[in-house]
Amino acid sequence: MKYARITGTGGYLPKRVMTNKDFEAIVDTSDEWIRERTGIIRRHIAADDEKTSDMGLAAAREALQMAETDAKDVDLIIVATSTPDKVFPSTACIVQRRLGISGFAAFDVNAACSGFVYALDIANRFVRTGGSKCALVIGAEIYSRIINWNDRGTCVLFGDGAGAVILQASDEAGILSTHSHADGQHEELLHVPAGISSGYDQVRQESAFIQMKGHEVFRAAVGVLGAIARETLTANNVKESDIAWLIPHQANLRIISAAAKKLKLPMDRVVVTVDEHANTSSASIPLALDVAVRDGRIKRGDLLLLEAFGAGFTWGSALVRF
Ligand code: COA
Repeated sequence: MKYARITGTGGYLPKRVMTNKDFEAIVDTSDEWIRERTGIIRRHIAADDEKTSDMGLAAAREALQMAETDAKDVDLIIVATSTPDKVFPSTACIVQRRLGISGFAAFDVNAACSGFVYALDIANRFVRTGGSKCALVIGAEIYSRIINWNDRGTCVLFGDGAGAVILQASDEAGILSTHSHADGQHEELLHVPAGISSGYDQVRQESAFIQMKGHEVFRAAVGVLGAIARETLTANNVKESDIAWLIPHQANLRIISAAAKKLKLPMDRVVVTVDEHANTSSASIPLALDVAVRDGRIKRGDLLLLEAFGAGFTWGSALVRF
């Protein structure tokens, strides 16, 4: 059976940067508190006229260029997002049209911050069973639109951006295994209460914004990220020391450090972008991957462990021979 191999990565960050200091003028917070409790220093915020598809498209174009692949070769598009352009059509269909291609399956996946690893899982299954030869997998989010800018407990944590990968069928090893999980019991610890069938007419009121019990979410994240790492290593008969790079979801440096510690990995083998990007939800892993590929840290043949955690709760991982 053929492997799905990552042949290109891409990323996009909006031009506007907001520092922690900028938040001091908005809510009762400080640069020191945000750095100490989260590791975040700055984040990118989309322009008023910028949409999720704009960012996803830009990241996709970069990934196609790195893969030296024409958009016409793409035969599957999955966009991981919980902040799509529209209720429908899917952001994936919008990206497809804007790439000037059509005819094949294009759809969105919403698993909150775990969206990209879920989408990678699905695309991997398409490629391995012959349903796709060249898949475009995007994580793209505009959380600045669902942030309550008066809530200091959440507004400082998120940023906007997009990341993308091209997955191609190959006889060479690529994605070795994918693992996706959810436990819907924890809905109210991290959610946006309003939705299409629940309070849609009230959007722009508080229920349209992220609400989170940060401490409980923190504890759950540390627990499941440890478990998913063990599950992934065991499934592949791989040791912690075989991992060249851990690419975790970028929510909080303390969660990332705890995950690395459980794997006995030094922080210099962990890709960290939360300081520069904050939490970009499903864009955070493909963006971190792209940063480390482009700056030369990640090299062909490296063994990568991707792991994510998000609202739902959802969590997932992928072991990848790059
Ligand atoms: N600036 C200053 N103080 C703040 C603050 C801010 N931006 N946000 C919260 N606080 C305050 C709280 O109000 C609380 O004050 P109180 O004790 O007077 O009530 C105090 O800081 C401690 O709050 P707590 O929630 O216990 O802090 P914490 O150490 O858990 O850190 C988070 C808060 C949000 C940074 C942390 O819980 C976290 O990162 N959670 C996970 C978030 C996450 O990853 N979400 C996405 C998952 S995909």
